[in-house]
Amino acid sequence: MLIAHTISDLRQALATYRHPAFVPTMGNLHGGHIALVRQAKPLGDVTVASIFVNRLQFLPHEDFDNYPRTWDADCAQLRAAGCDVLFAPREADLYPEPQTFTVHPDPALADMLEGYFRPGFFVGVSTVVMKLFACVLGQTGGTAVFGKKDYQQLMVIRHMVRQFALPVTIVAGETSRAADGLALSSRNGYLSAAERQEAVALSHALHQLAQQWQETPSAQPAHEQQARDTLIARGWQPDYLTVRRRHDLLPATPADAPGTLVALGAARLGTTRLIDNLEF
Ligand code: PAF
Repeated sequence: MLIAHTISDLRQALATYRHPAFVPTMGNLHGGHIALVRQAKPLGDVTVASIFVNRLQFLPHEDFDNYPRTWDADCAQLRAAGCDVLFAPREADLYPEPQTFTVHPDPALADMLEGYFRPGFFVGVSTVVMKLFACVLGQTGGTAVFGKKDYQQLMVIRHMVRQFALPVTIVAGETSRAADGLALSSRNGYLSAAERQEAVALSHALHQLAQQWQETPSAQPAHEQQARDTLIARGWQPDYLTVRRRHDLLPATPADAPGTLVALGAARLGTTRLIDNLEF
């Protein structure tokens, strides 16, 4: 696996390829990332991953400084998965001057849910992804794979690619889960042993919401309140637990058909904020 730290080294490494398949990450890789890399492999003539912990998408009180940097383990996993090129810019390579041009996604999509609880998050994500696309896919276009675990992020990126007519095909990867159903996440590593056991309750709450919606869609507000109360009673601090329409993430109505919906949740367990979702 070739490792490029600078944009010019990366461009040189990719110069002879016609269709990179790209998986952007912030490192601290787990099986979910590796599944995305394996999914990307047949989608291009060179498989590229990036590792960059993007300061722009963290709020001041969030875990940017403590975000685990696990370079050796990340490289070993990427090599084993058959990644050809790793782009790992230092902050000064990707942001050599203050990034004053930023990408502001449509507030109708980006100011709800994650964007409501993490203001500016999707500006930071969209800006870095635009820049990573320019670095990795700017010479040729290509394909980029994003996990459905970050459901709203995937939608924002799709919208950005469409609106800017970027020569990038976005492919969604299914969420990888532990044996008990917990969605794999870099932040699971923050959980204590007891919290790790409890963490799957978020996924259970989403399954229950989806089931209740199918039985009595008109009682949705009550179901969402009940899901919140259940998690609070178990020691969580929920941000949202809600059933939305997949195509615009607006609240589901009883007129919406199953198969078009997604239950989304975000909640804090101790100091760790987890998110998950379930399409149904
Ligand atoms: O999902 C992530 O890991 C990040 O938001 C991304 C897409 C790599 C941008 O920093």
